[in-house]
Amino acid sequence: MLESRISRRAALTGAGAVAAWMASPARALLQAAGKAPAPPFVDDLISHMTLEEKAGQLSLMASAWGGGAALSLNPPGNGADFQQQVNEARQGLLTGVFNGNGARMAQILQTAAVKESRMKIPLIFAADIIHGHRTIFPVPLAEVASFEPDLARRTAEAAAFEASGAGIDWTFSPMCDVARDQRWGRGVEGGGEDPLLGRLFAAARVHGFQGTDLRSTEHLLACIKHFAAYGAAESGLDYNVVDISDRRLREVYLQPYKAGFEAGALSAMASFNEINGIPSTGNHWLITDLLRGEWGFKGFVVSDYTGDEEMIAAGYAKDGRDAAKLAFLAGVDMSMQSGLYRKYLPDLVRSGEVPQAQLDQSVRRVLALKAMLGLFDNPFGRIDVKRESARSMLPRTRALAREAGRKAIVLLKNEGELLPLPRSGKRIALIGPFAAGAHDLVGPWVVYGDDRKAVDLAVGISAALAGKNLLTVTPGSGVDEPLPGGIEQAVAAARNADVVVLAIGESFDMSGEAQSRTEIVVPAPQQQLAEAVAATGKPIVVVLKHGRALALEGAVANAQAILATWFLGTETGNAIADVLFGAYGPSARLPASFPLRSGQEPYYYAHKATGRPNPPGELQPYKAHFRGIPNAALYPFGHGLTYGKIEYSGFTQSAPSLPMSGTIGVAATIANRGSRAAEEVAQLYIHDRVASITQPVRELKAFRKIALAPGQSEVVRFTLRPSDLAFIGRDGRWVTEPGTFDVWIAPSAESDGVHGTFDLVA
Ligand code: NOJ
Repeated sequence: MLESRISRRAALTGAGAVAAWMASPARALLQAAGKAPAPPFVDDLISHMTLEEKAGQLSLMASAWGGGAALSLNPPGNGADFQQQVNEARQGLLTGVFNGNGARMAQILQTAAVKESRMKIPLIFAADIIHGHRTIFPVPLAEVASFEPDLARRTAEAAAFEASGAGIDWTFSPMCDVARDQRWGRGVEGGGEDPLLGRLFAAARVHGFQGTDLRSTEHLLACIKHFAAYGAAESGLDYNVVDISDRRLREVYLQPYKAGFEAGALSAMASFNEINGIPSTGNHWLITDLLRGEWGFKGFVVSDYTGDEEMIAAGYAKDGRDAAKLAFLAGVDMSMQSGLYRKYLPDLVRSGEVPQAQLDQSVRRVLALKAMLGLFDNPFGRIDVKRESARSMLPRTRALAREAGRKAIVLLKNEGELLPLPRSGKRIALIGPFAAGAHDLVGPWVVYGDDRKAVDLAVGISAALAGKNLLTVTPGSGVDEPLPGGIEQAVAAARNADVVVLAIGESFDMSGEAQSRTEIVVPAPQQQLAEAVAATGKPIVVVLKHGRALALEGAVANAQAILATWFLGTETGNAIADVLFGAYGPSARLPASFPLRSGQEPYYYAHKATGRPNPPGELQPYKAHFRGIPNAALYPFGHGLTYGKIEYSGFTQSAPSLPMSGTIGVAATIANRGSRAAEEVAQLYIHDRVASITQPVRELKAFRKIALAPGQSEVVRFTLRPSDLAFIGRDGRWVTEPGTFDVWIAPSAESDGVHGTFDLVA
């Protein structure tokens, strides 16, 4: 009786009420959520739910379909089998599953939830759609190298289109952790070392995933993670503690998350790490005071995997019950995978340790989001077995992967204009463990992608060459171990060639979760291969595969040309070949500095001067540098060459000073003196010379990508406002202080470009 009454009401009032309640455009969507946190029928549902059903709505589990394949991407879980999971859905003990296997699985579980459970509340299906679903795009860090946020919006949108066709409602993305220590493996998933880039890409990805209407069966709910400061892990060790000033947190690490929320993301994931002694998952200040209070976040917060339970090992919670209580009271609405909420929350409410009203509020948030996603109106809206394959790997999606791939490739070095290579007339020896084969193409953090459906480098190069017999392919080495006879074969191949393309670097599992490295170098056997091949004297193009900035040494650093190609996904080989042979002129820039040595980490361009900076030139004693090397990058943030010849000149500014209530314009002339077209990324940096809090040597404030034909020049203009010069003052608030500022328009964070100064005046 009760069941039919509720489901009819949900069915009758759901569609119309949700439609009216939900304003369409994403920004308005956020406001709507703020004004009316849930459609009326949600409260009606809540009033009829048992405590166990409420705790169930706050419990998300890894899919157990297919023997629990989802668990292979995370530490082993609770070993549920699929039938048990179906029963849990029937009993209302499950809010949804993640990293499941497609529409068929979703259909079975959703049927159990909406047809056979007492409350008939639909499940939500989540997944780590990090850089594509079946069509895999470049890893997020690579995409940031494009310095083209709209590209990330487009790939996120395409990923949402494929994934939502496969029964997925919610992605655990974008990852918004600023990463300034390249030893940390998870920088590959994020926006690099700079807060401005991080902000722009976080917002773009949220727009791409969510679109303008969350009910659309072509979009996904985005999840801002890992909140917060996961990328600031001490010594770059994954899961390690973070001890950080409030100033650094707000000026740098919080910036991209905040931009993601402002763009309309309505879910968040608490990070594994602690901040200043308190695990994020149990951090009331972080989740409730800052995120909900100060920032006005209206969505729901999920733990990262067993983050609640992990507070026991961290020494913050005494047992599972305590962990559930601490996490929930801190403001984490939903528990992922530990099962602690459904095990303990009902009793914690009965005992009065957790207020009933707070439990209801979290359930309300989750049900409101399910309503916004259209799940009450049409629980099977994204679940359609035929559509799943019809949307998978379409030519237009692959074309976008190729475009994104080539736009992510950074030309680090090009001595004697070795690149682009001619498409005929040169014998090419393609050497290295990443030269050929269905491995290491789609890269880390891929749940549904398949290396076997991706294009490797040998195939990409062959397709680009005018004569097939110009190419030989030799592995030369394994990734981490030598191949018997490998170096001899590689040297022989190099001798018989006019040019060597050396495909070396990191395998996909050397970055990503739990893959911190102490030495961020090309693995030793591959370095030996490079040395031996270099000894032949043949010109070498190094094609790096990597999930982080690397410290390049010896023959690798000395190669005539170096391309940073990351993990580019499905169209890897074609995208690299486009750049190698000049079908596309490289336009990407480094989103993370390549240091001179591993031991410099964390190395980032926006560091402070110290009281003893080494002046430009020779290393001086008792100055801030390491033994034998300057405190500088081999290739700094923002660096990247083109096939043109780019010159910066003619710096102008609109006035000598910037009034507190005004703006100042700065401009430079950028010319292409080469014979090939080029795309240049002009970058605007500032430096506050003297302030009440010392400021970084440079900070990126804006950038612009321009296309220049041979011989063409363009005046690039930027406008600065006083708010661009703000920092967190001594009282913990944003302040803008009068003073003198340096300003550069430059091709990287450590190049001169053109320079001026202005005063900010009261
Ligand atoms: C742990 C990872 O930290 C997080 O990024 C991911 O979304 C979850 N596992 C679920 O797979």
